Amino acid sequence: MSKYELRLLALAARGHIVPDRSLLKTPAQIRAIKKSAALNTAVLDHVASHIRHGMCTEEIDRLVYDFTTEHGGVPAPLNYNGFPKSVCTSVNDVICHGIPSEHEILQDGDIVNVDVSTILNGYFSDASRMFMIGGVSPRAAKLVRVTQECVDRGLRAAKPWGHLGDIAHAINTHAKKNGYSVVEDIGGHGIGLEFHEEPFVSYVTPKGSEMVLVPGMMFTIEPMVNEGGPDFFVDEDNNWTVYTEDGGLSAQVEYMVLVTETGIEVLSR
Ligand code: MF3
Ligand code: CO
Repeated sequence: MSKYELRLLALAARGHIVPDRSLLKTPAQIRAIKKSAALNTAVLDHVASHIRHGMCTEEIDRLVYDFTTEHGGVPAPLNYNGFPKSVCTSVNDVICHGIPSEHEILQDGDIVNVDVSTILNGYFSDASRMFMIGGVSPRAAKLVRVTQECVDRGLRAAKPWGHLGDIAHAINTHAKKNGYSVVEDIGGHGIGLEFHEEPFVSYVTPKGSEMVLVPGMMFTIEPMVNEGGPDFFVDEDNNWTVYTEDGGLSAQVEYMVLVTETGIEVLSR
């Protein structure tokens, strides 16, 4: 029985959404998942030190595959539900799930999200960063800065025994204040023992709503912020790539976090 069982039962009785106990990681699982997360961060650092204009996104895929496998890991996206590559690279008006391609050359002024997910010894981790290629427009730079601020504010709003909606509220408020919109139907997720676990993490729900944050829970904070409207469409040819409906720019930053008894720990960023 979880040491929090009575508290969880009391919260559930008062109508709060509480996690299934299987979502609360044990200390041994946390140790193992932290190793996966550390490799995931190292992969992103590796990408950060090599990404440059003139490079095709397929080269980013190669960097991720080689570095991950050389360190004993497996890229989680590869063959995940048929995804053909080792990493998602989402350029400009691509919201998420961009597929690396030898035909897509990074140009001066592009903004690109590189979303890295790693399996190490069977444990999963996930994080993503924005990269600005060369000199980007003030408009693009601001979107990237505000998206990072959204995640920082979401993180500050998160606390043990608070709610997922507290994070969403902080993020959505900051995005809206800057005239941006947050994508609604695609969000974050629990992670660790699987690539995508419960709960679904929305970034548009109200403060005090959604699942209670219980020590041992792990999930991603990964809002997708659009400079225009929140609507999107999925590429009909590959069934993966998600574009903004209005052609506006989109940015995303993803942290993988653990709820502890005293706060929120970032495991991969
Ligand atoms: N990394 C993405 C996420 O944050 C999931 C990508 S699924 C893939 O949830 F198959 F496209 F890799
Ligand atoms: Co991700």
